[in-house]
Amino acid sequence: MQKKILLFSFICLSSLISLAVGDKSCVPRMYNHSSVVCVCNSTYCDEISQLNALNRGQYVLYSSSMLGMRFEKHGGLFNKKQYTHKKKNTFWDWFKFNIRGLGDSTLRIHRDKTFQTIEGFGGAFTDATGINILSLSKQAQKRVIDSYFSKNGLEYNMGRVPIGGCDFSTHPYAYNMQPEHDVYLSNFSLTMEDFNYKIPLIREAMNVATNSIHLLGAAWSPPIWMKSNNRIGGPSSLIHKYYQTWADYHLKFLQEYKKNDVNFWAISTGNEPTTGLVPVNTFNSLGWIPSRQAKWLVNNLGPTIRNSEFSDVLILALDDQRFNLPWWLNIMAESNATKYFDGIAVHWYWDDLTPISVIENTKQLFPGKFIISTEACVGDKPWQKEKVELGSWSRAEKYIKDILENLNHWHTGWVDWNLALDKRGGPNWFDNFVDSPVIVMPENDEFLKQPMFYAIGHFSKFIPRNSKRIFVERITGDIDNVAFLRPDGGISVVFYNPFDSDTKVSIVEDHRGYIEIEVPARSIHTLTYW
Ligand SMILES: *[C@@H]1O[C@H](CO)[C@@H](O)[C@H](O)[C@H]1NC(C)=O
Ligand SMILES: *[C@@H]1O[C@H](CO)[C@@H](O)[C@H](O)[C@H]1NC(C)=O
Ligand SMILES: *[C@@H]1O[C@H](CO)[C@@H](O)[C@H](O)[C@H]1NC(C)=O
Repeated sequence: MQKKILLFSFICLSSLISLAVGDKSCVPRMYNHSSVVCVCNSTYCDEISQLNALNRGQYVLYSSSMLGMRFEKHGGLFNKKQYTHKKKNTFWDWFKFNIRGLGDSTLRIHRDKTFQTIEGFGGAFTDATGINILSLSKQAQKRVIDSYFSKNGLEYNMGRVPIGGCDFSTHPYAYNMQPEHDVYLSNFSLTMEDFNYKIPLIREAMNVATNSIHLLGAAWSPPIWMKSNNRIGGPSSLIHKYYQTWADYHLKFLQEYKKNDVNFWAISTGNEPTTGLVPVNTFNSLGWIPSRQAKWLVNNLGPTIRNSEFSDVLILALDDQRFNLPWWLNIMAESNATKYFDGIAVHWYWDDLTPISVIENTKQLFPGKFIISTEACVGDKPWQKEKVELGSWSRAEKYIKDILENLNHWHTGWVDWNLALDKRGGPNWFDNFVDSPVIVMPENDEFLKQPMFYAIGHFSKFIPRNSKRIFVERITGDIDNVAFLRPDGGISVVFYNPFDSDTKVSIVEDHRGYIEIEVPARSIHTLTYW
């Protein structure tokens, strides 16, 4: 009976709107991992268009799965009957309801109970990203950028840009390396990496994006003459007499990019200050203890930026792992640094070991500061011998779980690491290879869109900037989910079935009715309706 209703609804909607308009399907290829990659080249790439402003009562569901669905679209109509929760009475009902993974889920959407406002989703314009995209033909390069930023792609609206070099560069560098001890940065200029690998691609992305791209800048290492250890990596600190010089360095970077028509939304106080304290990962870094960083922020970086033409550029604290919360900020606050940062940037690498409750504590302690995830990738752990796993669904699943968890706990955005890498997971001068949602194969003029690409896309495409997270009440079951009220009045609900068995999800909203959806094993869905 239910199946018939769904089928009927589907036919009705199909006659109202054509679901497949503008879409091009994935050209799948299987490597020896759990799912497929979608192959793109100079003449073909899969595309996904979004159906907006549906009539009341209609919905569209976009689905991707381990078995190979990639943004498959299905349309339908709400069942207008008032949803009535069927009473659980048999032992089997009780069993299904209580054992995770077997029970059907019913979720009630409350659009009037709102939480944080979304800033966006994106990835990083590293030197490696630029080198890899530029290794393809012009037409294929355009397809990579379109895949991420355009109306028929993931509609990314954020980008992170290293200030100078990082490990995903071909050699270690910073600006103004010479002359040494140049307090006034008399020789500060952008490098060929900025002009070739970063600026052109950022501008290309800005041209095709559906919304303005909010850029985040972060510095990895100063020129070595500013550092206590006189090296690009390893345990270090900033030499005190260069505190103002290091703040001016950030200002000069913003000025030089502005000359090239690239403006920043925010800068952070520096990438991973704790990495620069320990003798592991000795690539580009600068170590800080929070009390010293607070002094630099209060006396140097904060006033330098606030009193400049870039007074609107936001400043993000931490830009490091979740396990540094909230103690890092508590120390910053004791040093009166709170007024100089606007948000808190968090990296995902040890999220498995740090309970999400630290984010809740942080939000309570700093209610006026937004929280945003600024770096994530898989294949980073030394025991992960295969850095790039072409077609891995479990890696997509890591993205899905982390994004769901973070969005459900105050995060206003989620920014991935390298937008594109090669099949080794580089280039990286420190051989710190990792995975990426897009892997380039220049020998065939192809690029491969991995399951991770679609994982982040299920959020980025359907949760535009200024969407507000809304409350989802679990009536039965416990499928992971998150829901948003969009600025265009639409609702986007994302949910994920991590189990090897199919399940059923009902979405209920008072005054609209309910929808019943058959959800295959290991699949992610975004439901949109108005
Ligand atoms: C690109 O891919 C499409 C779809 O697989 C294929 O038909 C076409 O021949 C490819 N083009 C080139 C230039 O290889
Ligand atoms: C200024 O920097 C360039 C590299 O960008 C370097 O070749 C040159 O020697 C530097 N000038 C001085 C005076 O150190
Ligand atoms: C922070 O500000 C308070 C009040 O102005 C002052 O008493 C205190 O010394 C300041 N702390 C630091 C570390 O500067």
